[in-house]
Amino acid sequence: MPLIAEIGRRWPVVHTQVDIAALKTLPQAGLIFSSAALPYIARSGFPALWQLLVSALLPGGVLAVDLFGDRDEWSSGPGTYLTRAEVECLASGLETLRLDEEEYDGPAFSGPKHWHLFTLIARRPA
Ligand SMILES: C[S@@+](CC[C@H](N)C(=O)[O-])C[C@H]1O[C@@H](n2cnc3c(N)ncnc32)[C@H](O)[C@@H]1O
Repeated sequence: MPLIAEIGRRWPVVHTQVDIAALKTLPQAGLIFSSAALPYIARSGFPALWQLLVSALLPGGVLAVDLFGDRDEWSSGPGTYLTRAEVECLASGLETLRLDEEEYDGPAFSGPKHWHLFTLIARRPA
C-alpha cells in the first residue's frame, strides 16, 4: 500500500483554518503536510513553529514540507529562507526520506523570479 494511503487509513483527517504563526499547540498527527506555506512565516517565529510541528508527529509519522532557500529572489524580504545546512539541521532527529533542492528561473504570480526551493519528507522514528 502506498505510504500516503497507509497514513490515511491509520489516522483520520481533521480540517481547520488558522494563522500558523499563532499556533501554540497542535494535535498529534501521523502526517504533517505543508505546500509552500511555511516560508511565509517570519524568521523570528520559525524555530518555535518548527519545534511545534516536529513535536506533533506521532512515532512513525511523516512531515512533508516545502521550504525556500537562501538564494531565492525573495530572500531579502519577510519570511524564512534557509541554507541547505539549516534545512539539514531542521531534519536532524528525523529520518530523512527525501530532501530535494531546486534552483531555477520561473514564473510566480508576481512575474518571473529566481526560485530556490527545498522539499523535505522526513519521518519521526517509530
Ligand atoms: C504560495 S501559497 C501556497 C498555496 C498552496 N499550499 C499550494 O501549494 O498551492 C502560500 C500559502 O501560504 C498561506 N499562508 C501564508 N502565511 C500563512 C499563515 N501565517 N498561516 C496560514 N497560512 C499561511 C497562504 O494563505 C497561502 O495559501
